[in-house]
Amino acid sequence: MREITFIKGDGIGPEIADSVIAILDKAGADISWDIQAAGEAVIEKEGSPLPQRVFDSVKKNKAAIKTPVTTPIGKGFRSVNVQLRKELDLYANLRPCCNLPNVKTRYNDVDIVVVRENTEDLYAGIERQIDNDTAESIKIITRKASERIAEFAFDYAVKNNRKEVCVVTKANICKLSDGLFLDCARNVSRNYPQINFREILVDNCCMQLVQNPNQFDVLLLPNLYGDIVSDLCAGLIGGLGVAQGANIGKDYAVFEPVHGSAPDIAGMNKANPTAILMSSVEMLNYIGNSECGDKIKKALFKTLNDGIMTADLGGNYSCTEFTKQIVARL
Ligand code: NAI
Repeated sequence: MREITFIKGDGIGPEIADSVIAILDKAGADISWDIQAAGEAVIEKEGSPLPQRVFDSVKKNKAAIKTPVTTPIGKGFRSVNVQLRKELDLYANLRPCCNLPNVKTRYNDVDIVVVRENTEDLYAGIERQIDNDTAESIKIITRKASERIAEFAFDYAVKNNRKEVCVVTKANICKLSDGLFLDCARNVSRNYPQINFREILVDNCCMQLVQNPNQFDVLLLPNLYGDIVSDLCAGLIGGLGVAQGANIGKDYAVFEPVHGSAPDIAGMNKANPTAILMSSVEMLNYIGNSECGDKIKKALFKTLNDGIMTADLGGNYSCTEFTKQIVARL
């Protein structure tokens, strides 16, 4: 039996956590869960939204599943997600975006993989108030981080039979920072002649994505554009309820959905667990149990094909009922 860390956040976190644990247990994933609470709920007791025990657990188990954590807007503690990614050096944020069976969307053949740099850019959190009316935020881009994320994207493309990597920047305006990211991608691309290399500016990329997403394969982006564009891509395949994600480093990986804690539907049993379930399937692949992952994917796809869906996809199944239907198909 393999121990895996389960970082439980807030909002819809507890609901989708119960769902994914029930499904993985039923599928015979042979996992013992090391449950670690994080976020607002633990601050009062432990003085931090992300206590050391969470890092220790991920370091021990090497892999984790995580549900979202609310980040206070414009004030309060630093994002738990950003801290976790930075401290564990989870430098690659991998967000595959592919149509799911029977989920009606504007386009039918979306199959895009977003590779987002996960440790720097404006997420470095280096900000200062210059005076009452002026604030400054520093965008950090380094050669080291840009080269390794470009290598990750090309390596992923080769291993997954992808044809193209398209680097997305605003290097016409941020000539030095985005210019460096672009330069690194160009350099790395030369080592992968079998993969087509393309360059696009982020504004044009967004327009092209909503008009003709089928033209894209692997997208490679700095942190902030990657965050925004991956939500856009989620919208192409049915919304945040179905968009999976993973934070991958050299030694550890944390699998989590693209979406946040969805406070507007928290506690209402309305959340779609598909995004975290698909992220967990990737976790199973990562630990070498793809057989179990395939089984879960099959049960999920059969459930969707039978027209069983949560409210975000136009259905009328609650989170728990939807979960039961998947469990029944296992
Ligand atoms: P959100 O992703 O939580 O919600 C956006 C919209 O999508 C809402 O209408 C929500 O109901 C819907 N939605 C999201 N996940 C869903 C699901 N599984 N099933 C059905 N509907 C779903 O984004 P929002 O509202 O901007 O952020 C809320 C909080 O989450 C913020 O504090 C933010 O910082 C945090 N956040 C945390 C992340 C993480 O822990 N990795 C990632 C993104 C945001």
